[in-house]
Amino acid sequence: MKDTVTATLLWGKEAAAEIRAQVKERFDRIAARGIQPGLAIVTVGETPAGNPYVRSKSRAAEELGVRARVERFPGTTTEDALHAKLRELSADRGVHGIILQLPLPSHLPEDRHLEDIAPIKDVDGLHPLNVGRWVHGLPGHRPATPLGVLELLRRHCGDLTGKRVVIIGRSRIVGRPLSVFLSERSPGLNATVTLCHSATRDLKSVAREAEILVVAIGRRRAITSEYVRPGAVVVDVGIHEIPEPPPGGPRFEGDVDMASVRSVASAVTPVPGGVGPMTVAFLVRNLADAVEAQEGAR
Ligand SMILES: NC(=O)c1ccc[n+]([C@@H]2O[C@H](COP(=O)([O-])OP(=O)(O)OC[C@H]3O[C@@H](n4cnc5c(N)ncnc54)[C@H](OP(=O)(O)O)[C@@H]3O)[C@@H](O)[C@H]2O)c1
Repeated sequence: MKDTVTATLLWGKEAAAEIRAQVKERFDRIAARGIQPGLAIVTVGETPAGNPYVRSKSRAAEELGVRARVERFPGTTTEDALHAKLRELSADRGVHGIILQLPLPSHLPEDRHLEDIAPIKDVDGLHPLNVGRWVHGLPGHRPATPLGVLELLRRHCGDLTGKRVVIIGRSRIVGRPLSVFLSERSPGLNATVTLCHSATRDLKSVAREAEILVVAIGRRRAITSEYVRPGAVVVDVGIHEIPEPPPGGPRFEGDVDMASVRSVASAVTPVPGGVGPMTVAFLVRNLADAVEAQEGAR
């Protein structure tokens, strides 16, 4: 008889709802003081259909009474125009959080524009000052997606001390910060982390060392059971819109080939409904931190 396993699905919805309820109490206290927080999302070269990430971030903020606005620039916009807008938003007292939607078109320098954002309003935690703070384990804004992954892992795995974690993908918004957070010398963390990328040799055997495998590469269904150690916990950060979804079927899928990986892993995050809701929950939590830092917490 074939020995098959069916992995548990690690839904993020419940945990995200808990975090959002806590955040809502903070926003209610802010509103009671007559303050309406503001969030600005800046996009460059967005397609006419719009960006689903931008929509879900704005909606989540608005549900908390935040005035969310999207500043859309065409793909041909200049460095000076983007610089001027980010500086203007940084100086605007009605805007408490700024998100610069990445990636930018190749003619725009991401590093320079991330520095255009006032660090206190940098709710994505990507300004070099905030990056320096999280690398040193200091308080400050941290990227929301890795915080969400960490929370899911804490809830499912408990203490991560000494766990072998392999992360595939080293982006500044997901893989790299997650590698830093997981390896932090802090109770419950202290994991042993390997960060993989497109130049990693023999990725399959490196990935199979993982007790926890996190995938953030932006390639649909790229990671199959061949990359997974039996019993591993797999976190799928990727999200891709299925071009022609079957009627009534899912409209999104991840970097992980769920059908294949489910028979080997002990637990897998579903797409959608796994990491996505956690990202949004931690983003609004970051926004609450930003508002309180600028308006004072009471
Ligand atoms: N659920 C959420 O809330 C959320 C949040 C953010 C992103 N995402 C999704 O997560 C995915 C990744 O996004 P991202 O922004 O982190 O990634 P990204 O900036 O596109 O970077 C991809 C990373 O994967 C590596 N990579 C690509 N192909 C690879 C391969 N075949 N083998 C090994 N490594 C490979 C790249 O290596 P190099 O560095 O060598 O190029 C790079 O480090 C996307 O689907 C994105 O939409 C979801």
